[in-house]
Amino acid sequence: MRIDVVTTFPEMFEGESPAALGVSIPGRAMRAGVLEVVATNIRDFAGGRHGKTDDRPFGGGPGMVMMCQPLWDAVRAVEALDTTPAKRILMTPQGQRLTQSLVESLAKEPRILLIAGHYEGIDERVIEKLEPLEVSIGDYVLSGGELAAMVLIDAVARLLPGVLGHDESAASDSFSPVGPSGERLLDCPHYTRPRVWEGVAAPEVLLGGDHGAVARWRLKKMMERTRERRPDLLGDG
Ligand code: ADE
Repeated sequence: MRIDVVTTFPEMFEGESPAALGVSIPGRAMRAGVLEVVATNIRDFAGGRHGKTDDRPFGGGPGMVMMCQPLWDAVRAVEALDTTPAKRILMTPQGQRLTQSLVESLAKEPRILLIAGHYEGIDERVIEKLEPLEVSIGDYVLSGGELAAMVLIDAVARLLPGVLGHDESAASDSFSPVGPSGERLLDCPHYTRPRVWEGVAAPEVLLGGDHGAVARWRLKKMMERTRERRPDLLGDG
C-alpha cells in the first residue's frame, strides 16, 4: 500500500528509518515493501517568495489559517505521482472517530492520501473541494495532524497482508470482532514466566495445556473486562 502524507513537516516522516514509523511493525512493513510512506511538503506549492501557506483569519481571532491554493496544488500533484487513485483523508479533531473497524476498511484501500493540517484550521473552501474523509484520533487537540496521521498509518500497517506473523495475528487484538455475537471486545490479561512472581501465581488454567479451557477462560475475561471498562462496546454504554 502506498500512503502519501501532505504536510508542512515532511521531516517527521522522512529518512532511512523515521523515528516513529521506522521501527517495530510499521518499520517491518516498509522494509518488506508492503507499505510505502511518501511525505510531500505543502510549502513546495506555496506561491510567493516566502513560501507562505497560511494567513490571518477573515473575521479576526487568534492563529493562522491554511490557505486553499498551496494545499489544493499539493494534493493534486501528489495524486499525479501514481496512477492508483488515492482515498483522501484529512486528519482533524472534527472528523469521525478512528476505530478498528475504520482501520480495517482503510487497510483494504490500494492507496491513501493523508492531509495533516496545522495552524488554527484550514480554509473551508479547499476542504469542500477536496471532499476528504475527515478523521479524528480522539477528543483532544494536537498541535498538528502529523502525529494523528502516524497513528492511522501504524494501525493500518499491522493489518496489511504478511506484516504480522501467525503468532501475533491481529485477530486476537482488542477491538477485533471476537465476541459470541461478533462484538468487538477488549483483550484479556496475559501472563508469562515465572509462574509465580512476587507471590502472585499466573492463572492455573493457562498452565494446564487444555486449549479449549484456555480459549473459554480468555473469552470470559474479555467479556468481563469489556463489561467493566467499556460497556459501550457491548451496546449498553
Ligand atoms: N489534529 C489535531 N488534533 C487532532 C486529532 N485529535 N485527531 C486528528 N487530527 C488532529
